[in-house]
Amino acid sequence: MQNKKTESDKNMQQYDFTKQPSILIQGAMEIETDYLIGQLEDAVCVAVGNWKFYTGFLGRYREPVIVSRTYQGMVNASADTALGLTYFAPKAVINQGIAGGHDEDIHLGEIVIGERVVPMGAVMQEFRAKGVGIDPLGFEALPLEIYDKVKQTTAKVLDFPCDKELIEAAERVQTDIHMHRGVLGSADEWNNQIDWIAVMRERYQTSSEDMEAAAVAQICRSYGVPFIGIRIISNSVVNGEDFDESVALCGQKYIQSYVEELHEFRK
Ligand code: 5AD
Repeated sequence: MQNKKTESDKNMQQYDFTKQPSILIQGAMEIETDYLIGQLEDAVCVAVGNWKFYTGFLGRYREPVIVSRTYQGMVNASADTALGLTYFAPKAVINQGIAGGHDEDIHLGEIVIGERVVPMGAVMQEFRAKGVGIDPLGFEALPLEIYDKVKQTTAKVLDFPCDKELIEAAERVQTDIHMHRGVLGSADEWNNQIDWIAVMRERYQTSSEDMEAAAVAQICRSYGVPFIGIRIISNSVVNGEDFDESVALCGQKYIQSYVEELHEFRK
């Protein structure tokens, strides 16, 4: 039998991910990226610095995507994003993975579609004199500096709105998973004190916490690239729901359907 490639196959093989449109999908850990990488057609691993980017085609529209494992934490996630945006110039970035629930109405295995993302760890303390003691509540949110290359100026911001079109597409995904629109809080922190989580909710209206989304959002904002954070709840101390990493797979399956919803995004 002749091994005959279709015209579209040939075109896909010639697809240049550094010049043609793509969507960057990130996850911090293997359990958050393995399924998606396994689903890629014509997968190619491209190493940029210390980070790996898997290019390929996902879903029934063979959407060109790049899946990258950021590793855990804000610094890793921002480095992965800066490298990915510089090398591939994707048209959108999806930061996805597991998260801890902050809201009693959001349960294990449910999804939070980020309306905005807040860097919970960016704080300025009130002055307190020596010996007066520590006041954990004596702080304000500290604005972060963003460099805008186009305007060649910096701005100070407190949070990062997710792209409206990306949010609406996420809400169109047909799934049995319960979805919520909410605020993703991120920091190099794992909070287990329920009263502290209440403070985060009061100050920032957080629905969940993770350790990457706000760092990625900050770099995307600087580059002017549409961003969305989407998290699936893997633990909820506020509901007494213990850590279950298996939800990471459900999250990736949702993202696979989501990518199909993005077929017409910024075409
Ligand atoms: N707090 C912070 N990060 C969490 N993650 C899952 N649950 C939590 C939580 N309760 C995510 C982070 C990090 C890894 C530990 O899983 O984003 O990558």
